[in-house]
Amino acid sequence: MIVLGIESSCDETSAAVVRMENGKREILSNIVASQIETHRLYGGVVPEIASRAHIEAISRITYEALDVAKVTLSDIGCIAVTSHPGLIGALLVGVNFAKSLAYSRNIPLVAVNHVKAHVAAAYLEYETLEPPFLALVVSGGHTSFYNVTSYTDFCEIGSTRDDAAGEAFDKIGRVIGMPYPGGAAMDKLAYEGDPNAIKLPSPALVGDTLDFSFSGLKTATLNYINSERQKGVEPSHADITASYTRTIVDAIKTKTDAALKLSGAKRLVLAGGVAANSHIRRGLSELCQSRGVEFCRPSLSLCSDNAAMVAAAGYFEYLNKNFADTSLNASALDD
Ligand code: KG4
Ligand code: ZN
Repeated sequence: MIVLGIESSCDETSAAVVRMENGKREILSNIVASQIETHRLYGGVVPEIASRAHIEAISRITYEALDVAKVTLSDIGCIAVTSHPGLIGALLVGVNFAKSLAYSRNIPLVAVNHVKAHVAAAYLEYETLEPPFLALVVSGGHTSFYNVTSYTDFCEIGSTRDDAAGEAFDKIGRVIGMPYPGGAAMDKLAYEGDPNAIKLPSPALVGDTLDFSFSGLKTATLNYINSERQKGVEPSHADITASYTRTIVDAIKTKTDAALKLSGAKRLVLAGGVAANSHIRRGLSELCQSRGVEFCRPSLSLCSDNAAMVAAAGYFEYLNKNFADTSLNASALDD
């Protein structure tokens, strides 16, 4: 079956064509139009600007995805669209576009949860991967553990109680002068600093929980930067970044270790935009190796927001007959 995926939950308009057959998964196209340059001027995503940019791009991007895949709408067996969670105005653009396309061409439509789609990216590259497994989603909006019990059923067993890991990277990146979003630039800069230079509080909550809290770490780092600046000293950006990254990686390793023990999972899937972080990838790779756990981490282009992952998740919703109709609405919230 050939699935057309459509994604517009935040600041990337994306359309993809993916062939999903028993055990065989092939990305025929995965077009992403990023709005980052536009939002950079404001230091973060401006929802109204994001919605307007999606409206301008969505039709062109969808037809480009079909052209690159060398298919037409007549070849599409199912349209999968991200319906939640995300920015409501941005989501509505993709949802309404997908509904019109599905209705006018009589193509089955399925609604996809963006977080589940991040996890489904792993099915595209690990063809033998199947549930059950443990998933860790680290993105701009989420830092959560899920027991994935089937292709469509997730049970959250831990999450952040405030900021997500991506927000935490972006906020400190901004304070040290990096353009939005600072996550990828901090990844590189961390190699140039001393990871033990600054002692920072762990975002791993103490006790019998798989939850995180990034707000204390963020405040402590801001306080350190401000107190150095008050002394007339600009602290080393590389040392801050290396220490900050090490603190986050250590916390993620600690909680992932606990989550693996609790769930008894033999496979870990890492997903979401922050899953591109090379320090997190290496830290979790070492952990999985030491525990004899298979570690599935999609390529960088499948970690950030893209519609191929939406198509993959949508395929399993289709198999479950979870069809949507023209009453489908978007929602800013998780399920
Ligand atoms: O999943 P995503 O593309 O969008 C959401 O669904 O939120 O994640 C975007 C986040 C941003 O916060 C960005 O700074 C972060 O992923 N990010 C990274 C890296 N690449 C992207 N954070 C740390 N290291 C990276 N290499
Ligand atoms: Zn995302």
